[in-house]
Amino acid sequence: MTDRTSPPGPVRAPAREGQFTHLRLDKVSRRFGDKLVLDGLDLRIAGGEFVALLGPSGCGKSTALNCLAGLLPLSGGGIWLDERRVDTLPPERRGFGMVFQNYALFPHMSVRRNVGFGLRMRGIARQEARARVDEALRLVQLAPYADRLPGQLSGGQQQRVAIARAIVIEPPLVLMDEPLSNLDAALRLDMRTEIRRLHQSLGLTTVYVTHDQEEALSLADRLVVLREGVVQQVGTPEELYRSPANPYVAGFMGYRNLFAMTVTGGEGGHATARGLGIELTGVAGEGVGSGPATVAIRPEDFLVGEPPADAENVIEVGVEVVEYHGRELAVQARLPEGQALRLRTSTRVERGETVRVWVPKDRVLIFADATAISPQPGPPQSGAPDATGSGQETAAEASAS
Ligand SMILES: Nc1ncnc2c1ncn2[C@@H]1O[C@H](COP(=O)(O)OP(=O)(O)O)[C@@H](O)[C@H]1O
Ligand SMILES: [Mg+2]
Repeated sequence: MTDRTSPPGPVRAPAREGQFTHLRLDKVSRRFGDKLVLDGLDLRIAGGEFVALLGPSGCGKSTALNCLAGLLPLSGGGIWLDERRVDTLPPERRGFGMVFQNYALFPHMSVRRNVGFGLRMRGIARQEARARVDEALRLVQLAPYADRLPGQLSGGQQQRVAIARAIVIEPPLVLMDEPLSNLDAALRLDMRTEIRRLHQSLGLTTVYVTHDQEEALSLADRLVVLREGVVQQVGTPEELYRSPANPYVAGFMGYRNLFAMTVTGGEGGHATARGLGIELTGVAGEGVGSGPATVAIRPEDFLVGEPPADAENVIEVGVEVVEYHGRELAVQARLPEGQALRLRTSTRVERGETVRVWVPKDRVLIFADATAISPQPGPPQSGAPDATGSGQETAAEASAS
């Protein structure tokens, strides 16, 4: 999608009643027992924005969403819709639409009655309610299924019902918690497009929780990366992809090799690091001086073959595993002192070979934070390439261009 960062334009529906200019989360915290699960979440969301909360399982995404919805009281902080404080209101008085992973439909009610439930609760007159339900069902392309029971629908259709139920109340804010996780891969892509289309055509404001970086990158205007309840970075997909704030975000936004090295010098925004039997020069992140650092390089940023005379960061690696992925090879290799790394290349290489690779210094990120090398989210490039391998790179590259 190309319109992710464009301002609200003429495609958007006119502002509805209950719309707001800004939603503000001010140091929102939540404890379970003595465990701080959400630690001072600060966030400002503009009306009409699509914001994704992204992070691995257990990082506090659902907790944040449930705090927003009013399903969980805060342990600290506050939530404001413009000048109105809402975190003290019960969920029904906030009036937000919610879509959950497990659809949460009433099994004994028809599709039509499920969608109309919120309108009945609000005492909307019958005739108006019927018209609005019909319209919502039309929007999610389920009009012919109005009289069926949820059990007679596929998972994708049930999730459409849940979405219709959320939007029919014309909520100022729609909250979605991993709504596509129960669907198979092809349907997930269709529904993703559908969600983005509804967001735009209805002029919704959406907060969307996912652990799937590709989903977040392709849907959201802005992403909030969470780790253990703490915000790591907030930015557009392009900002996070190009300029991750720390090694954690770097590892999460598409796979990157992370090397623990030591900075020995630098100038003009670049630093040089040594260790693992190699020397690399790259873009120096905030606070990079001398001392321990993390060096981050994407597998596809390594160039393989005979380096040109002006090649930067030329190193030798031993090839250990070569996987054929269509036009590209996914290669596992080792640095001189044994550190493993991953490359992606269309140049033929063979297992057991020692090859020279190089990487332009502007594609090397050096972070002062040497402690953040941690298990990386998701399998990087082996296994199913459509899940988190090449697909993620494609989506992210597309979003960055
Ligand atoms: N009701 C609860 N009681 C105790 N701990 C909880 C409860 N709900 C969530 N947690 C803990 O809070 C952390 C964050 O959970 P959650 O917000 O569901 O994460 P996510 O949605 O990112 O997977 C996890 O460690 C989880 O075990
Ligand atoms: Mg969750």
